[in-house]
Amino acid sequence: MHFMKAISLGYNAHMRCSAIVATTIDGKIGLDAGHFSDWTSPEDKNFLHQMLDESDVVVVGNNTYKTALEPLSKRNCIVLTTSVAISERKSSRLFLVNAQTADMRKILETYKTIAILGGTQTYTYFLENDLLDEIYLTIEPLVFGRGLNLFESAKNINATFRLESTRQLNEKGSLLLHYVRA
Ligand SMILES: NC(=O)c1ccc[n+]([C@@H]2O[C@H](COP(=O)([O-])OP(=O)(O)OC[C@H]3O[C@@H](n4cnc5c(N)ncnc54)[C@H](OP(=O)(O)O)[C@@H]3O)[C@@H](O)[C@H]2O)c1
Repeated sequence: MHFMKAISLGYNAHMRCSAIVATTIDGKIGLDAGHFSDWTSPEDKNFLHQMLDESDVVVVGNNTYKTALEPLSKRNCIVLTTSVAISERKSSRLFLVNAQTADMRKILETYKTIAILGGTQTYTYFLENDLLDEIYLTIEPLVFGRGLNLFESAKNINATFRLESTRQLNEKGSLLLHYVRA
């Protein structure tokens, strides 16, 4: 978070939005909207679970939520969907939010550590609205040849990040890159 921007826009300086992403070598996060992320390495899954355990809330789009209902059911989740007018609390763990009508920043400010779990539309919403503080990007050594990009914006986004650390997760060469907003 840029400090001066935090002051001028009155952000909660403690709120941190971290995108957690796995991509192929060709930068794809899945084949299509209904593709379950069963192609990532066990080491990346361990990292993901550790990150989610440390997060106050997980934000996912409705498509991703539907592909991972069971693993996400035990998490505190904000699910983005246009199926609600503004927002609707379904249970203590499940909060449906329409990011087109709700005051997303105000909702997010009630948390400290926020894990943005995708997919493309959701990562793109956070990028376009300048809400991404950092990206944990695991590159898995495989190629899909087609599929969903990490971001898909109609706008020209010029967001710059700084590489904070790199880690090789296993012998086959899954690489975990940690970028923070420059
Ligand atoms: N490799 C990875 O790290 C990773 C991580 C997560 C997901 N994925 C993959 O990503 C794919 C799904 O991505 P996706 O882009 O199709 O979908 P998505 O972002 O998961 O969900 C899209 C849906 O979320 C809702 N939504 C998104 N932005 C919104 C906004 N600003 N306001 C209100 N509602 C909003 C809409 O739901 P409604 O239709 O209900 O209105 C929209 O149809 C799957 O293949 C999944 O496996 C990969």
